[in-house]
Amino acid sequence: MSPTDAPVESAAVALRDVSMAFGGKTVLASVSLDIAPGSVVALLGANGAGKSTLIKILSGVHTEHGGQVSVNGVPAALHSPLAARQLGIQTVHQRIGEGIVPGLSVAENLVFEELAQARGNPFRGGRRLLARAREIQSALDLGWSDAVLRRDVTELGISDRQLLILARALATRPRLLVLDEPTSALSAAEAERLFALVERMRSEGIAVLYVSHRLGEIDALADRLVVLRDGRLTEDQVKPFDWDSALRAMLAQAQETTTARPRRTGEQGEVVLSLRGVPLLAGHPPQDLDLRTGEVTGVVGLLGAGKTELARGLFGAEPFTGGAVELDGKPYEPRRPADAIRGGIHLVPEDRHTDALVPGWSVAQNISLPFLRSLSTVGLVSRSKEDALGRATIEQLGVVARDEHSPVEELSGGNQQKVVVGRWLAENPRVLILDEPFRGVDIGARRDIGRRARALAAEGAAVLVLSADVDEVLEIADRVVVLAAGEIRLDAYGEDAERDRVIQTISASV
Ligand SMILES: Nc1ncnc2c1ncn2[C@@H]1O[C@H](COP(=O)(O)OP(=O)(O)OP(=O)(O)O)[C@@H](O)[C@H]1O
Ligand SMILES: [Mg+2]
Repeated sequence: MSPTDAPVESAAVALRDVSMAFGGKTVLASVSLDIAPGSVVALLGANGAGKSTLIKILSGVHTEHGGQVSVNGVPAALHSPLAARQLGIQTVHQRIGEGIVPGLSVAENLVFEELAQARGNPFRGGRRLLARAREIQSALDLGWSDAVLRRDVTELGISDRQLLILARALATRPRLLVLDEPTSALSAAEAERLFALVERMRSEGIAVLYVSHRLGEIDALADRLVVLRDGRLTEDQVKPFDWDSALRAMLAQAQETTTARPRRTGEQGEVVLSLRGVPLLAGHPPQDLDLRTGEVTGVVGLLGAGKTELARGLFGAEPFTGGAVELDGKPYEPRRPADAIRGGIHLVPEDRHTDALVPGWSVAQNISLPFLRSLSTVGLVSRSKEDALGRATIEQLGVVARDEHSPVEELSGGNQQKVVVGRWLAENPRVLILDEPFRGVDIGARRDIGRRARALAAEGAAVLVLSADVDEVLEIADRVVVLAAGEIRLDAYGEDAERDRVIQTISASV
């Protein structure tokens, strides 16, 4: 080892020539990186670049790798997740399920670290366990009551589960905290809380490795950014960042960094769906809304604004409690999703990992899942049609997979997401509802999804995109609707839907 290759004494964690392959395919090639205490290092890369794989090496999940990891200058044996945690490396994984123990209560999950490391029950009784759980949650101001702490952890929603894992990781005062797309399941307000926390950790000398596809987040939080492309580190910058160069390194091509504005100025297509006097949230005033052909309507609002209720109501997953809806001028009252799909109304749901993919099935099978009927003749699915659909989606959205026969669980997080979004883009619906379609997908894929949504609108569909992220909505939508407490506070096209006005409307309603 030459002197310059030696790990820097002061690095909290140092990687040297780390490599990894799956079934002969190289996923990481000779990655070297020093992470200094009290620094926030952003790790960028397209979907499938190898970010989560690198993180799983640091967290003791993947042990069959090449190269060396040192902690505080000492070579470390990261042979299990517990070993990594004992060395002070705490990880919040991209998939929330990894880290939650179903069958245990919320409180037990919060103190799980201490339960796992001690022999027997270190708390000798529920009272102390509850007291410790309260202490751990207070670091994040979660404000969960004892009743919540006693519930089975599976009763928590996805963002609460993530906050639980974060609180638990912080309670151990880690040397390195690794966050793999931590905001993709959080609302804007929850994300703000996380950012404040990252600031605090930095000031306390904790090193943070941060993976995100949201460039604004990285710009605000990180001191340094590194880019991974096809398993190699291709860029290393300190603040202020040169985004042009970072994106080029990430995608191997120049990309615009500015967000496009909504394009429409109010010239209108025909009304496909019309809502009259529909309450979106119980106890809040009923709302009117028309969705038209040829346009992408972006609905933006904080968690609890009524976005998901709107989507689920239109899709028949949770029927509206009042008012009237018409589809192409005729009464439309879906009682279940099958009614909606029959009427040409499709929904890409928000909570994908849990309800949308069938593990063990190939990419092509997962894509054709909702269309089994149209692809089959007398009950037999046409394999060739299924494969063709799979290949088309892989190509359209740039899904990184060996081919359409790869098992879907071997895909990276963002690529799995493209499969779920992609299958609904393959059809020609009358109304397409996309609930948080951009979570975890890289900016190249975000534009691909946006382009496809626009093309469907141009072909005569009404497209509805729901998101908590203002910039994502402005990038894709012709028309912007701001929802707060179940009420439409702004409904504007083009120039009138400019960023400051949208943000002001949202913050005025908090
Ligand atoms: N268990 C596995 N078996 C086979 N291949 C895998 C497995 N896990 C990951 N891969 C492959 O390794 C590559 C890198 O995946 P990884 O999950 O590290 O990507 P990523 O950078 O985290 O992407 P994303 O932004 O989509 O989360 C991908 O091509 C993926 O298909
Ligand atoms: Mg990943």
